[in-house]
Amino acid sequence: MKKIALALTLALSSAFVLAGPPAPKAAGIESKDYQWAKMEGELKEALSKKGDVKRGRDTYEICGACHLPSGAGRPDGTFPQLAGQHTTVLIKQMADIRMGLRDNPTMYPFAKEMTDPQDLADTSAYIQSLCIPTDHGKYEGADAAAQIAKGKDLYEKQCKECHGANGEGKKDKFYPVIAGQHYKYLLRQMTEIRDGHRRNANPDMVKVIKPYTNDQLVAISAYQSSLSMPGSMCKPKAGKKK
Ligand code: HEC
Ligand code: HEC
Repeated sequence: MKKIALALTLALSSAFVLAGPPAPKAAGIESKDYQWAKMEGELKEALSKKGDVKRGRDTYEICGACHLPSGAGRPDGTFPQLAGQHTTVLIKQMADIRMGLRDNPTMYPFAKEMTDPQDLADTSAYIQSLCIPTDHGKYEGADAAAQIAKGKDLYEKQCKECHGANGEGKKDKFYPVIAGQHYKYLLRQMTEIRDGHRRNANPDMVKVIKPYTNDQLVAISAYQSSLSMPGSMCKPKAGKKK
């Protein structure tokens, strides 16, 4: 654990980040030749490996420093919830971050160390095996019920087709699980995808989300953070009221 704390302190100090080579930057959706989820290189290689959950428990340790050992991340949305995410999604996001298709300066120093496709497959298999915590960040305004109702309406029209009725995504298509994700993280990601800042985004989703106003994104995030996937969520802790 000490080693991790030290690595983290180093990585979070800007001197260390500046000392290392800068993260690469790929054009992604900014380029007209962009092919989303192109089956080559690291993505293809890591997906072809069978992930070992037991080994992944060890390789995940360093990730747990930010995403927590449970995978729950932080309700303030700084670190996303990862537990129960599809291995395909995890591998694609990691490969994209390493390739410079998705900016993540906080995590890059760690992501760049995971060079072995087998480690990537193992870590992802372990994360996918974790139950999704139920005490994630939700929309907390007094108008929550109205926001959730408005968000549900929008979500069912244009998002359910890919992200599923319960936010379960689609493993073989790289569509992420949304259930259990923190409200503030969802809002930030959707804003970035809408505004073209997440360069690895799915072009079909970008088309759908382009016309949404900030208010509509708030409502959809409120709804998405209320979703729950039967069978995949963690059991409430004994003695704790849900
Ligand atoms: C220093 C903190 C830190 C460490 C260590 C870290 N991450 Fe992250 N990770 C982040 C942050 C911050 C984000 C969200 C960035 C953003 O807002 O786009 C993130 C995002 C992700 C995402 C994208 C999630 C999504 O919903 O799209 C994945 C996957 C991920 N991390 C996996 C890992 C794995 C695997 C490891 C271990 C090798 C790891 N992270 C280590 C900080 C960290
Ligand atoms: C064509 C399928 C598709 C449609 C339609 C779609 N999405 Fe997505 N969405 C994706 C994919 C694929 C990703 C991951 C993008 C990537 O490759 O980085 C994603 C990512 C996201 C994320 C970020 C998740 C994370 O863990 O970082 C959110 C939030 C999201 N979508 C919400 C929505 C909402 C809300 C709608 C409707 C307005 C929508 N999506 C419509 C496919 C879709």
